[in-house]
Amino acid sequence: MMPSAPLLLLGLFGLAAGQTQYTSTGTSAVAAARATALTLSPTSSVAGLKFERFVQIFLENQDYSAAIANTNLAYLATQGIKLTNYFAITHPSQPNYVAAAGGSAFGVTGDGFVRIGSTTKTIVDLLEPAGISWGIYQEDMPYSGFQGNWINHATGANDYVRKHNPLVSYDSITSNANRGAKCKNFTMFAADLAANKLPQWLFITPNMTNDGHDSSLSTAGSWARNWLTPLLSNANFNGGRTLVVLTFDEGTTLGTNQVYAVLLGSAVAAAQVGTSNSTRYSHYSLAKTVETNWGLGNLGQGDVAANAFF
Ligand SMILES: *[C@@H]1O[C@H](CO)[C@@H](O)[C@H](O)[C@H]1NC(C)=O
Ligand SMILES: *[C@@H]1O[C@H](CO)[C@@H](O)[C@H](O)[C@H]1NC(C)=O
Ligand SMILES: *[C@@H]1O[C@H](CO)[C@@H](O)[C@H](O)[C@H]1NC(C)=O
Repeated sequence: MMPSAPLLLLGLFGLAAGQTQYTSTGTSAVAAARATALTLSPTSSVAGLKFERFVQIFLENQDYSAAIANTNLAYLATQGIKLTNYFAITHPSQPNYVAAAGGSAFGVTGDGFVRIGSTTKTIVDLLEPAGISWGIYQEDMPYSGFQGNWINHATGANDYVRKHNPLVSYDSITSNANRGAKCKNFTMFAADLAANKLPQWLFITPNMTNDGHDSSLSTAGSWARNWLTPLLSNANFNGGRTLVVLTFDEGTTLGTNQVYAVLLGSAVAAAQVGTSNSTRYSHYSLAKTVETNWGLGNLGQGDVAANAFF
C-alpha cells in the first residue's frame, strides 16, 4: 500500500531536515516546538535471558580511582556488582556517547555538532525489529526530539548539551520523527515512571550540573545516589528484572580511561550484591550485553569483540 500523501510528505521533509530542525533556542521558537512536539512512550515486555529492562546512566569525566573513593559512589557499589576493569573508549565526551549507542565513534573526535550518515546503524536498529521499546531521557532537554543545546535561562548555565546525548548525532534517529519522539526529558521520565510506561532500553543523561561536568564529583555522586535510591524500590522501574549500569563517559586525559562502573537493580542476584567483577568491559559492552540478552545479532562494530556483563 502506498503511504498516504501527508505521511509521505512528512517523511520526505523529515529526511531533508534531519538535524537542521528543532535546534533553535529562542523563547518563542522553543515554546512553539514544545507545544507540538511529538512524544511517544511505547512499552513492551520482551523476555530476555537475564533482564527485561536495561538502564544506562552516564556521569562525567572522572577516573576510576577518584570515583570509587567518593562516598556515595562507593556506597552504590556495595548495592550491586562493582566492575573493576571497565574502560571508556576515547576522549573527549561526545565520541564515548556515540560509541555507546553505535559500537564505534565513527570518526567523531570532538565535542562539536556532528552528523553521522543515515545508513549508520545504532542499537535502536537492533531493538526495534525485536519489538523492544526504547527511550532516552536527557535532563532539561526542552522538548522531545530537540536537537540543539540548552542553557538554563534563569542562570545562563549550561544545562542540556547534545554532546552528552548518545543518539542525536545519528541521522537515522533525527530524520525519523517517531524516533525523535522517544528522545525525551526528565519531565517525561517522571510521567512515564508514574504511568508505568518506561521502555525496556533506557539511556539517562543528567544535566551539566548533576552529571558533574560543570560541578564536581561530589555533586555527581550525591545526585546518583539520591536519584537512584527511590527508583530501586519503585516497581515501575525496578520491578521484574532490571539491570542498571551506572558509569562515567570518560576518565581524565591523564589517566588510563578506566572508569567507575557498577551494575545495580533487580537483575543482580542477591548472592552477587556487594561483589566485584574484574572482567574487562568497556562502553561497547553496553551494546554487547543488550544483544546477548535478547539475541539481537550485532552492529558489526566494537560490540562484536566486547564482553557482555553476563
Ligand atoms: C519536557 O518535554 C515535554 C514533551 O516535549 C515538554 O512538554 C516539557 O515542557 C519538557 N519539560 C521541560 C522542563 O522542558
Ligand atoms: C540541573 O537539575 C537540577 C535539578 O535536578 C537543578 O537544580 C539545576 O539547576 C539544573 N542545572 C542547570 C544548569 O539548570
Ligand atoms: C563476571 O565475571 C565472570 C568471569 O569471571 C563472568 O563469567 C560473569 O558472568 C561476570 N558477570 C557478572 C555480572 O557477574
